[in-house]
Amino acid sequence: MRLFLDTASLDEIKEAVSWNIVDGVTTNPSLIKKAVLSLRDADVRIDMESYIKKILAQVGRMCPVSLEVAGLTASEMTEQGTILYEKFNQVAGNVVIKIPVCTLRRNGEGRTFDGLTAVQALSDEKIPVDATLIFTPEQALLAAKAGAEYVSLFAGRVDDRIRTQAGVSFRKEEYFPADGMSGCSSPDEVLTDYGLVSGVDLVERTVSIFDQYEIECEVIAASIRNAIQAREMAEAGADIVTMPFDILKTMIEHPGTAAGIEAFTSDLVDEYLDLFTSGDSLHDQ
Ligand code: E4P
Repeated sequence: MRLFLDTASLDEIKEAVSWNIVDGVTTNPSLIKKAVLSLRDADVRIDMESYIKKILAQVGRMCPVSLEVAGLTASEMTEQGTILYEKFNQVAGNVVIKIPVCTLRRNGEGRTFDGLTAVQALSDEKIPVDATLIFTPEQALLAAKAGAEYVSLFAGRVDDRIRTQAGVSFRKEEYFPADGMSGCSSPDEVLTDYGLVSGVDLVERTVSIFDQYEIECEVIAASIRNAIQAREMAEAGADIVTMPFDILKTMIEHPGTAAGIEAFTSDLVDEYLDLFTSGDSLHDQ
């Protein structure tokens, strides 16, 4: 399983890349906005093009970085995807173009199949595409058929939708059970969103369909809310899990590890510590 960082913050990327466990980065317009606002707050003048180039160089060759288009029609998305790829892929050869699987809005405005048309047009030009904003295995299947190299499954937002529709209040980072939660009226009823009981369920089912038909498209478990969910995505067979910097940090922390390090540190005896200061033990043998 590969691990991507879900951020457009160059500082976060720099730090996480230095740990040598990050295999790529995913961005989206909301993450870019967050990064721009925090740069403005710090009084840093923003030149978006060189900022993105720094991200690409920092992440490095062989580690994909996704950049999302802004348009909503097939021709806009194809043109913008081509511009992004031509402008930025020369930096480190690691650009992937993110295309929304469907650009239809909730009020019915927009285009149903334009996302897939753009996926196909870019893939035909050998530009790698990550089909994004995917909430069902069937959307993932269609995106893969159109030629997407990656599908980004918005698992955490499926869990958010299930709780919101049930009127359950929750904190964003709160754990949502992989096998679903029952409704208030009947404990036997498991709440669903488009037939899915959780974001993990979305990933599991998509992986199972892709395996069954030997579909060569990588499943990215995205919209990750906590470390346990990241673990469950690995168990579900996601090829890639992309997560915010703070969640990546919580994956390494554990109170048992912290208590253990405190105990080991306080139990260090001088005779043992001397081993590290003498400096001639290797040569004495
Ligand atoms: C995926 O590529 C998206 O950038 C991201 O995971 C969305 O996550 P969110 O639901 O936390 O915004």
